[in-house]
Amino acid sequence: MNVTVIGTGYVGLIAACCLANSGHKITGVEKNNTKLDMLRQRKSPIYEEGLDEILNKVIDNGSISFTDDLATAMDTADLVIIAVGTPSLTDDRVDLSQIFAVAETITALANKPLTVVMKSTVPPGTGKMLVERYFSKSEQQISYVSNPEFLREGRAVWDWYNTDRIIIGSQDTEAANQLNELYADLNVPKIHMDVTSAEMVKYASNAFLATKISFINEIANLCEYVGADIDAVAPAVGMDNRIGKQFLHAGLGYGGSCFPKDTKGLRFIASYYGYPFSVLKAVMEVNSAQKIRGMRKLLTALDNNLYNKKIALLGLSFKPGTDDTRESPGIDIAEMLISEGAQVHACDPLALASSQTLLDSDHISFHEDPYQAVSNCHAIVLATEWPEFIHLDWQKIKAAMQAPYVLLDGRNAIPKESIQNLGFHYLSFGRATN
Ligand code: UGA
Repeated sequence: MNVTVIGTGYVGLIAACCLANSGHKITGVEKNNTKLDMLRQRKSPIYEEGLDEILNKVIDNGSISFTDDLATAMDTADLVIIAVGTPSLTDDRVDLSQIFAVAETITALANKPLTVVMKSTVPPGTGKMLVERYFSKSEQQISYVSNPEFLREGRAVWDWYNTDRIIIGSQDTEAANQLNELYADLNVPKIHMDVTSAEMVKYASNAFLATKISFINEIANLCEYVGADIDAVAPAVGMDNRIGKQFLHAGLGYGGSCFPKDTKGLRFIASYYGYPFSVLKAVMEVNSAQKIRGMRKLLTALDNNLYNKKIALLGLSFKPGTDDTRESPGIDIAEMLISEGAQVHACDPLALASSQTLLDSDHISFHEDPYQAVSNCHAIVLATEWPEFIHLDWQKIKAAMQAPYVLLDGRNAIPKESIQNLGFHYLSFGRATN
């Protein structure tokens, strides 16, 4: 199939490369010249495990090319995939300006019947509005399909090939069948439904996962009061298949470009209809409070005074396996530490460059080597559970620090007995150690 993918961010680039790898002929459209140059030089603008190999392979076998010229790219396309950004606005609404601009252009350029596939995350009701406002005005037949993605950053290529389901939202049977064909090599359930329901599946999925995280964080907090241990509780709760084991890991809470944005977006939609989505509101509040709870633990351990204290911050990306720092708990912690007057020694395997622009202060230094970062520090905050950090030589780390050797494990990731035996003042969430 000839497919044009508009936008080569996380979603667009993974989709473009993986579809090209399945034998489709892909044109990736990117208007940012720096990104376009990188892609043409076979360099991925984002870090994603396994992506470079696929990118090189599909460029070599001629199944993908990149351009900034949408008009030419659309000439040969059977299908146009929209994968442009939909960031949050300050009032929590989703900024659809890039979607509107692309929809308008597609409508103006269409010179033959076309199927438009929406992969960007857009609020329920958007597809209907786009059809009414733009696509139905074209002289050509433009069919619309909502096809949300469920890829995790850092695992996106793996997720593409191992997804639990493919959601195909369309009232047009022919267009929906084109999507069956597009994903013919993926032997997973392909679920057909209307456009608005498909859009809702995406928001409901992310909101539910965020709910699981906030729920287990509340249970972990309660474990601290009653003297239970979340390490025993969470896995046992998750063994009930109706609940499931995943996303029951307590810590500093969720970050990233998806859960924070999508929970805000869903809350906004609910409030637009006058519906008080109380559970979602609580999920978001718990998530914000969790970072403050972590800071309180640190403060208490450091005599309620962080001024001039040297704190090593291990982890700036919002989770391991990515260089993405959007809404990262590590970045929030850095900002809080800086505002308390601490000297922050930050370290991350991939996210130093992006963090340096976000955290511009005399109170922070950036280190590639964790042993150098912890040197002479009073405390460490582990904000991202990179394996590189978990498997550090903790004896060597302690030897490089100064008293009182506080370690706030913001991800409950380090085996607690061994670390306590080394003499750390170890803090975590709900693990009967605090
Ligand atoms: C999330 C979803 O998992 C994907 O299915 C979805 O496609 C994607 O958003 C999206 O909408 O594009 P992602 O944001 O990449 O993926 O990362 P996750 O692995 O879901 O983690 C999100 C955050 O939750 C991270 O900060 C992580 O540290 C935190 N988390 C995760 C926890 O605090 N506890 C857990 O048990 C699991």
